[in-house]
Amino acid sequence: MDWGMQNRLSQLVQPDGRCYFLPIDHGYFQGPTRCLEKPGETIAPLLPYCDALFVTRGVLRAVVNPAQSKPIILRVSGGTSVVGEDLANEEITTSIEEILRLNVTAVGVSIFVGSRYERQTLMNLAELVNACEDYGIPVMAVTAVGKELAKRDARYLGLACRIAAELGAKIVKTYWCEDGFDTVVNGCPVPVVMAGGPKCETEREVLAFVHDGLQQGAIGINLGRNVWQSKHPVPMARALHAIIHAKADVAEAYELYQETVQRA
Ligand code: 5RP
Repeated sequence: MDWGMQNRLSQLVQPDGRCYFLPIDHGYFQGPTRCLEKPGETIAPLLPYCDALFVTRGVLRAVVNPAQSKPIILRVSGGTSVVGEDLANEEITTSIEEILRLNVTAVGVSIFVGSRYERQTLMNLAELVNACEDYGIPVMAVTAVGKELAKRDARYLGLACRIAAELGAKIVKTYWCEDGFDTVVNGCPVPVVMAGGPKCETEREVLAFVHDGLQQGAIGINLGRNVWQSKHPVPMARALHAIIHAKADVAEAYELYQETVQRA
């Protein structure tokens, strides 16, 4: 692997082999998502706990300080909205020149396996990999399901993750699932990180699935709403950081969460 590609990947994946990405890209199809209306304010207290930000170019330019930025994973697919016909009908939104101009560490693109736009979104990934490999920029594939949240079982996720890796993704972001998540990770020849999906009922539930996913082989998280829509975002970020980078178990992380809530 070329030096540039290795250098960028090592900014994302920490020396312990783990990573904590903070996604704030939801507005690209959801608009001003709850608790992300002012993304600059949302991320300010959370940045110390994460290893990279997942963001679109618009929000990057508008609210992220270029002099003090975490590594950036640039969201480069889009073109649909929650009120439109089909969330899967995405194209690549950002040119390679723009990706280079923004000096990002990686780019992220969604694929919608099994949807009407399967081929189009898989070709988005393949063509993005073609363009980015020339410049040593890693591509993170997002196995998206749009509004079809029930699709998130091991068989489907395993299929989508493997296809993403085969097409050249260097990291795959997918959902954790209760049964068979180890088969999803083991069937994917590149590192897997977990997204959160809609907000869980309790904070402990989030800590538990993240801990379980790491035990099953995921290398980290790309978790948004379950952090910044929590009643206590900073304690959540701190507890997740402890699970990911300090080998905390669920009880230890939850204790840390409660301590941080009480101190605030
Ligand atoms: C939105 C995304 C998000 O980055 C991803 O879903 C993670 O965020 P959350 O934990 O809120 O699901 O790709 O399109």
